[in-house]
Amino acid sequence: MGVVKVGFKLILANVLLMLYIAYGPGLLDFQPLKYFVELPSKFEDALIPNDHLNQAEILFQGKIAGPESLAVYEGDIYTGTNDGSIVKISKDKLTVVTKTGSDCELQTKSSTCGRPLGLRFDKKGNLYVADAYCGILMVNLRSGSVETLLPLSTEVEGKAIMLPNDLDIDEEQGIIYFTDTSTKWPFNRIFYVAFEYSSSGRVLSFNLHTKAIKVVADGLYFPNGVQLSHDKSELLIAEWSNRRILKIALKGSNAGQTTTFADRFPGEPDNIRPSSTGGYWVALTAGRNSSSLALCDYLAEYPLVRKVIARFSFFAASCLNYILQFWPSPVLKDLAFKAEHFTLIFQLLPKYGMIMELNSDGEILRSMHSPDGSISYLSEVLEFQDNLYVGSFINSFLVKMAALSS
Ligand SMILES: *[C@@H]1O[C@H](CO)[C@@H](O)[C@H](O)[C@H]1NC(C)=O
Repeated sequence: MGVVKVGFKLILANVLLMLYIAYGPGLLDFQPLKYFVELPSKFEDALIPNDHLNQAEILFQGKIAGPESLAVYEGDIYTGTNDGSIVKISKDKLTVVTKTGSDCELQTKSSTCGRPLGLRFDKKGNLYVADAYCGILMVNLRSGSVETLLPLSTEVEGKAIMLPNDLDIDEEQGIIYFTDTSTKWPFNRIFYVAFEYSSSGRVLSFNLHTKAIKVVADGLYFPNGVQLSHDKSELLIAEWSNRRILKIALKGSNAGQTTTFADRFPGEPDNIRPSSTGGYWVALTAGRNSSSLALCDYLAEYPLVRKVIARFSFFAASCLNYILQFWPSPVLKDLAFKAEHFTLIFQLLPKYGMIMELNSDGEILRSMHSPDGSISYLSEVLEFQDNLYVGSFINSFLVKMAALSS
């Protein structure tokens, strides 16, 4: 009798906790939306499985943390890493050029620590950086000085810039285009943008001459990579959560109009960069098709389940952070960090590496895979001197392969 009573009380307590987590006040403001996942039904034609990525060379293993974006100046490659550094890569040497934020401890990263996500050079060698914590920056390579062109919190049409992710520059016009991935979640909550299916992202333009900032497009679902078309008449935007690339007309009578450039991708696109054949390289976070759906795809249609998971994770983090005040255990600290930043998302996404080349009409020309996921979570492809360099927002290495292997 007593056992039944205790069991009943436990179940009741759990049900009440779950109800509180789903509907209770004072918890994380997480408003997930239902969505449908459209993926190619199988890997065929240009998507035929191969292991080209696995054959590639691995550079700087363990020496470079999350080289998300890559840019070239005078024969050297530059990248931005997880500890806020801008790093120069010349042949087999790595040199830290500068840091975008103040020094920071990786696991307890605060917003004062920089996170350079998108890098572009102008012809003069000024390095423009979309930094998730520090805003839009200009780095002088020679002096290492970092000039803040637009800090976070700069208001544009009533909303503060919150999560700069990637940029491109139209030098002739003197305009920087950049994505503000979310106006709701800052960078240390970026996985909530994905899990919520938040439409709070936008594309902004910044005129370097007049200093005018404009909203080019808004209501976007995790806008990520930015790339001007080869003739600069259009702007391509990777809409990560919708696994597609949008095209925004910049010139002519339909200027400002947004259409779909390419969709039904076999995964979420990160950055877009030009390919030497006149098309574009796209790196995917997690490759898959509709016969290999991931956990996150099954959860797409169940926003309430996603709400409970996300709010529970955040609630658990709050409890752990409270305990940490009295008992500063490194294991708990790590767990609290993971729960608060929702790194659980990596358990919901498959590990399958993929990069693709698109032609100028958005059709997939070819793709390189890592079926076992040993090379996954890819963020950008740089085609340079007949090689492809592939970055990642999380891996601690860079990938290099011949551009023409297919
Ligand atoms: C679907 O994707 C998986 C990898 O996620 C792959 O192993 C499989 O071959 C693909 N299936 C088809 C039918 O192409």
